[in-house]
Amino acid sequence: MASLLAQLESLSQAAARDIAAASDEKALEELRVRFLGKKGELSAVLRGMGALAAEERPKVGEVANRVRDQVESLLDGARERLAGARLEAELAGPPIDVTLAGRRPLPRGHRHPLTRAAEEIAAIFARLGYEVASGPEIELDWYNFEALNIPADHPARDMQDTFYVEEAALGGAHRSGSVLLRTHTSPVQIRAMKRLGKPPVRIICPGRVYRSDYDQTHSPMFHQVEGLCVDEHITFADLKGTLAAFARAYFGPGTRTRFRPSYFPFVEPGAEVDVSCSICGGSGRKDGKRCGTCKETGWLEVLGSGMVHPRVLENGGIDPSRYTGFAFGMGVERMAMLKYGIDDLRLFFENDLRFLRQF
Ligand code: PHE
Repeated sequence: MASLLAQLESLSQAAARDIAAASDEKALEELRVRFLGKKGELSAVLRGMGALAAEERPKVGEVANRVRDQVESLLDGARERLAGARLEAELAGPPIDVTLAGRRPLPRGHRHPLTRAAEEIAAIFARLGYEVASGPEIELDWYNFEALNIPADHPARDMQDTFYVEEAALGGAHRSGSVLLRTHTSPVQIRAMKRLGKPPVRIICPGRVYRSDYDQTHSPMFHQVEGLCVDEHITFADLKGTLAAFARAYFGPGTRTRFRPSYFPFVEPGAEVDVSCSICGGSGRKDGKRCGTCKETGWLEVLGSGMVHPRVLENGGIDPSRYTGFAFGMGVERMAMLKYGIDDLRLFFENDLRFLRQF
């Protein structure tokens, strides 16, 4: 028994010494195997217990257990010490440059052709002194129709197949029929006038609009750019000059414009604006054939416009006896299709990379 106790004592001292001297985690693991492993030193001592008298065994067993616990806790302590030291060393070493470029950079993408067209349109108007405004896509009936001089029973409402928000979705906050997905960007006219409080108002608003439509030239969600200019002495000549300048900037310097009388309840008078066909140059013929883009007419219809109706100014909080203004609205998909020669509007929303990569 004395010899087993002496072996345990020397095992314990050797473990304490060697563990304290271990310089890495691999060395610690080797020490664990050497002292505590199945074929290790402690097991060898325990095997020797078989030769002891029965009453001596508990004493040796007790010491052996204490030695095992002690070695285990020395190993744990040493592991912690080494991990701490490694962290310290890493922190003290040269920093990792997380901004360094990867070895295989992903190919860079680019903006969607619709985003590009909308930004280009807004940039042209920015040069003319317009600021970009925005409004909600889920809109109140009042802004989308009522304030724009389109009362509930007005036939002009039928021109815009509207998505209404169900009363249940509104949590009782609004009557059903009073909230909808905006059918055009014109409600931003009212919001902008109310926000700015007084003229001059010169805003442009690109944004998404929604109508219950779907075919080659219509999708239930599409984009418009609205424009509004209100000040003293604004006339139809300002409207014509502004839109003609815009058409030349967007489609090219030789572009001609044509104004045709048209009806929108929120303008008086109203006009639709055509530009000379950007594909055939206005001749109606391309490469000796009929131009399909303008259907041989030489003209493309691009936007609606007009002098702001006095009632609309009033609804925007502006005195119509002192101020006048003009407004216009255009479809971004259409503007992009005409500029880039795209014949199906649905291509914009299918996200086919073969299409998108061409821009
Ligand atoms: N909001 C009209 C539409 O969506 C376009 C428009 C805007 C017409 C401003 C005149 C003035 O059809």
